[in-house]
Formats: sequence, structure tokens, C-alpha cells
Amino acid sequence: MYKRRIIRFVNNNVIYFQHSDYIKPGPRALKRALFSVTLMLIFFEGAMPMLRSGRTIRTTGGSSRLPMEILGFDSVINRRGTGSVKYDAILKRGYPESVLPLWIADMDFQTAHPILRAMQDRLNHGIFGYDEPSEAYFEAIMGWWADYHRYELRRDWILASPGVMFSLSLAIRAFTSPGDAVMIQTPVYYPFFKAVEANNRRLVTCPLLYSNKSYSIDFDEFQNTIQAQDVKAFILCNPHNPVGRVWTPLELEKMGSICLRSGVIVLSDEIHCDITAPDHKHTVFAGVNSRIEQITATLTSPSKTFNLPGFHASHIFIANRAMRQAWMNEKTATCEVTVLPEE
Ligand SMILES: Cc1ncc(COP(=O)(O)O)c(C=O)c1O
Repeated sequence: MYKRRIIRFVNNNVIYFQHSDYIKPGPRALKRALFSVTLMLIFFEGAMPMLRSGRTIRTTGGSSRLPMEILGFDSVINRRGTGSVKYDAILKRGYPESVLPLWIADMDFQTAHPILRAMQDRLNHGIFGYDEPSEAYFEAIMGWWADYHRYELRRDWILASPGVMFSLSLAIRAFTSPGDAVMIQTPVYYPFFKAVEANNRRLVTCPLLYSNKSYSIDFDEFQNTIQAQDVKAFILCNPHNPVGRVWTPLELEKMGSICLRSGVIVLSDEIHCDITAPDHKHTVFAGVNSRIEQITATLTSPSKTFNLPGFHASHIFIANRAMRQAWMNEKTATCEVTVLPEE
């Protein structure tokens, strides 16, 4: 049987990790980074079995609080020369080797040992033919969202993808036409700009408000921009990178209602959903209500939570059948990897 509660937060072992895509060098920037866009790193006793091999990783249950050393938070592992974007690419950009790179959201300790063991088992098998997600893969995803985010999703809503940005580009192409306006809330994860423009859509920005050291949404501006610019799709970043806001149910409901009224499709990037500061709970945008669910595609991945971005094991879930079919058609048109035709 699939065991649902595979990860437990350990209250006193919370480590904060700086997410620094937008940090310019300098001591003030470092301080700002530590306090503004802070990712809570969770200490876990199990692992989400989202490997494409579909292996389910079970915890033993009971008290299995692992000591810090097991995850090696104290060891410094040399990542240079491993093809790491974080370490090797900065040299190519002319920075000296002594620079400690803090510019990308991947982390410098090994992933959880249950994940390493599952990968090792798979490696030991030694054959790496074409594969497709197994039932355990779907169960793991459904269980995760139900347990940790109180969101029930159906198996057929889940579509595998090599990355959130891949899913986003496909979604932009599937749900809009060339020249259509696609809106983002700035400042935001910088590849969103490129994803819109490279697909020949019109980039529309709706700035967030900054006041009292926090960001918020100007809902009048949000609505006016959508109407004035004839926006067809909105890329929501929930929680928001880089401003570090975990949008509240009310904020999400307000944005969702405006999008519903204006016929705007929402592409909700929820890659940071598991990494919230204490007292801030992530709300799944599609879970706000069933009408909003019908206009939303949710893009996510275990890569941030478990430090697995190099795995390219992401997924998108879409409740609306026509939207799902459109996204799948776009995927097929881009690169069909299925060996057998879909039933
Ligand atoms: C908001 C956001 N979306 C997407 C990504 C990248 O996701 P992927 O590597 O799956 O394309 C990141 C990476 O930092 C991110 O912060």
C-alpha cells in the first residue's frame, strides 16, 4: 500500500536557504537576500517517490527523526567539474573560483538518502530503456497534494514534463495564439519574460506594490491591465519568486475571479509550494474553487523541495479536459516520446 505520510517537518531543525536569483553582490544585498527571499529548507525522514522509475519509497513509520549528519548538512561537497550550472557556469562568466555562487535555487548538500537509495537500486538494475510513469508515480503525486496541500487531483489530470519552464512554454503555445497578450506580475522569475516573448506573444506586466517591506497586489491595476491589454493568459507565481510572498486564499480568489470574468487562462507555477516559512500555508490556486480550477493549469516539480532539478522530473496538472488535450497536442507537436500510441 502506498504510504502517505512520508515526510515530516522537524520543528527545531529548520534551516534557511537563500534564494538569490536577483541578488547583486555586496554585503547589503546579502543581508537583504537572507531576510527577503528566504526558502525554508525542510529536514525530512522520507522522500517523495517521484522518480520516473515509479518506485515507492516507504518510511518505517514511528519515530525516525534522522540526525542532521545523515543528510550531511555539515559536509562541504565539491561540485566543481560536475557540470553544475551554479558552480561551473560562473567561471565561464569570468568570476574567480573563490566566489561562492549564491545565484541559483539549487542546494549544496546531498538529496535525502531514501531518494539516493532508490536511484542506486535503479542504477544497479543497469538497463535504461524507454520508460513511462508507473501507477506509483501518479499515486505519489496525488498523495502528496492531498496530504500536504489538501488538494485532491485526479490521475488523468497529471501529465509528466521535463521541467516547469518546458510546461510553461507549451502552455503558452497551447492556450494562446501568436500576438496574444500574456501577463506577468513583476518583479518575477526572469525566464517568464523570455517564455512569453520567445513564443511570439505580447508581454504585459502588472507590477506588484511594494510598501512596508512587503509586496502586494493592486487589484484595480490587475483588472484594468487585463481589460485594457486584452490579456488571454496570466502566469501566476504561487508562492512568488522573488518577492517571497505566499499568496493568501483571499488574494488568490480575487485574482481568480477577475480572470474568470475576463476569460483569462491561468498558468500557476507552484514549484515553491512546499517551501514556506512557518505560519504561512501554501494554497493551491486551482483548489480555490471548482470554477477557477477549470481555467487553470498548475505547473510544478519535486525539484526545489528535494534538490533534484537535474532530474528533469516535473509535472503539470490540468482539470479542464479541453485544456489538457490542447497541452498534450502541443507536447506531441513539440516532441512525441511515447512509444505506444495513447489508448
Ligand atoms: C518560479 C520558478 N519557476 C520555475 C523554475 C524552474 O523550473 P524548472 O527547472 O523545472 O524549469 C524556477 C527555478 O528557480 C523558479 O523559481
